[in-house]
Amino acid sequence: MTEPKRLLLGILLATGAGWVLLVWMPLTKLGPAGPGGAPFGRAAIGGEIYAANGCASCHTQVVRPANLGSDIARGWGTHRTTPSEYREEHIVPLGVLRLGPDLANVGERRTDARWYYRLLYDPRTIFPGSLMPSYRYLYARVPLLGTPLPDALPLSGRDAPPHGFQVIPRPEARALVAYLLSLKRASSVENDHAQ
Ligand code: HEC
Repeated sequence: MTEPKRLLLGILLATGAGWVLLVWMPLTKLGPAGPGGAPFGRAAIGGEIYAANGCASCHTQVVRPANLGSDIARGWGTHRTTPSEYREEHIVPLGVLRLGPDLANVGERRTDARWYYRLLYDPRTIFPGSLMPSYRYLYARVPLLGTPLPDALPLSGRDAPPHGFQVIPRPEARALVAYLLSLKRASSVENDHAQ
């Protein structure tokens, strides 16, 4: 091989290796740009309420790969979360500590808005002895005129409002629940898209 050819080959190898290591490999790690993406509308506002209320101090939104934990076995996702599942998100609440379950795809596991309203109002009525705080300030007590409003909470016992009143979610609670319902990271849909 002549001297110029060797030089050319060297340049090609050096730039090629750089391209593979710095461009191609990181791109394959991004994962598929499947459905989902950043929450929008009411759910996006809910994401800010999630952040403001410190939910991320007890809940993560990161599904670990099967060899690094039991997240997938627990049903918290069908595959490890990939960076593209957080794309375009203004706030990415990965979380700092996991005192409660991972919420990366809670919107797939729990699909009933009423269940979330009940949980956020008083977690201990669903999980006795729960450490999760109640978020009653996200609700309003309003007079009961005739029949209860469709989204009035079915409260009984010590949670029941005084006679003639009902408890309904404030717009903040509605937005937060819309956000939780929108959380579908690491879902099979996204995974199928990867195939
Ligand atoms: C002090 C820790 C703590 C904080 C703060 C907290 N949670 Fe929780 N959360 C828990 C625990 C623990 C559980 C599991 C239920 C149990 O056994 O107590 C849970 C359960 C849940 C679940 C049910 C998940 C499932 O898979 O069943 C949801 C949804 C949830 N929390 C949402 C929230 C939201 C939204 C906030 C913020 C407004 C929040 N949590 C703040 C500790 C916390």
